[in-house]
Amino acid sequence: MATNSLFLLPGDGIGTEIMAEVVKIIDWSNAEGLTDFSTDSGLAGGCAYDAHGEAISEDDMAKALKADAVIFGAVGGPKWDNVPYDKRPEAALLRLRKDLGLFANLRPAICYPALADASALKRELVEGLDILIVRELTGGVYFGEPKEIIDLGDGQKRGIDTQLYDTYEIDRIARVAFDLALTRGKKLHSADKKNVMKSGVLWDEVVRGVAKDYADVSFNHILADNCAMQLVRNPKQFDVIVTDNLFGDILSDVAAMLTGSLGMLPSAALGAPDPVTGKRKAMYEPVHGSAPDIAGQGIANPIAMIASYAMALRYSFGMTELADRVEGAIAGVLADGLRSADIAQENRKTVGTQEMGAAILAKLKA
Ligand code: NAD
Ligand code: IPM
Ligand code: MN
Repeated sequence: MATNSLFLLPGDGIGTEIMAEVVKIIDWSNAEGLTDFSTDSGLAGGCAYDAHGEAISEDDMAKALKADAVIFGAVGGPKWDNVPYDKRPEAALLRLRKDLGLFANLRPAICYPALADASALKRELVEGLDILIVRELTGGVYFGEPKEIIDLGDGQKRGIDTQLYDTYEIDRIARVAFDLALTRGKKLHSADKKNVMKSGVLWDEVVRGVAKDYADVSFNHILADNCAMQLVRNPKQFDVIVTDNLFGDILSDVAAMLTGSLGMLPSAALGAPDPVTGKRKAMYEPVHGSAPDIAGQGIANPIAMIASYAMALRYSFGMTELADRVEGAIAGVLADGLRSADIAQENRKTVGTQEMGAAILAKLKA
């Protein structure tokens, strides 16, 4: 009997195309006896709305809550632009994050050596880049209430979102980030807008308090707008960046381009460890979306998705060796010169999603 369960939610657009490549890797590692995963899959996003009129069904939510890890593709697309707000494809993602308590979102941006010339930035700025954005994922303006549009009369309306953070939310994400910094370059930047936001003032106060418990980590405060600029000017000055939900969303898309493409960036969304079993709820997903502009063409880069699966092996199952092997296989095919369209380079063979997935699997088998 399988000991570990994965719940797969491929989603919409390129989500289904890139998930298919991960499934092949899971099937291989199960067949080799390297893993013992049971897998089940469900619907999330626009496909779930089409099937049940909701972005995710209660049945699939229950399965996600029970699984040892959720592997998520991507959701959304223009087809669902006009569905009611709380049934939008993205609502599935937000509900999964909230109901599973996945407050800590790890978004590593690593520039693989073979891609140093694929970045929009000069080689010397990105070569060897290895930064980790730790994004708070269940609070802030994404979830604060009130969140509504009210009618003011006279043709005027008011759109309201509420940026809101409590001490405990800042404290726990800061501790995750400092703990990770200890295992890496021992340098942490906290990005906020304390110059204009009260939630930023509290954010900074709490993170500075946590910093006192981590004397071995160099702590730096940075305003979020400057952080975006510095990521492009001199990204290698950063090791770990801890920030709130909205800034983390934006800064991680900026960081993605340092690695060559948004199609390269994986992520892990983690909950708090269970006090008895020590297990964390977790969901693994690429940072990118459903890429409606290229969906259905078979050209999406599956690397962010496959690297997200490697993060699942590492963070949910402690399978460090296999995670290293998967990441090594990704580095290997890139070193061999294989490129999907998003990281295409002169004199390099451009391959589709399936060919890239197959090449990574072949490296794993070798
Ligand atoms: P997107 O990330 O889907 O695409 C942005 C650009 O990057 C596009 O040009 C796309 O072709 C390219 N791209 C993204 N992933 C790629 C890959 N793996 N390979 C090659 N190219 C890739 O962002 P968007 O276009 O702003 O949003 C499209 C939809 O996705 C929206 O509905 C949005 O809400 C949703 N979205 C979902 C998630 C998620 O499910 N986690 C994340 C971001 C956006
Ligand atoms: C991401 C996405 C999501 C976010 C959307 C689709 C809700 O952009 O995971 O980066 O804003 O968090
Ligand atoms: Mn995003």
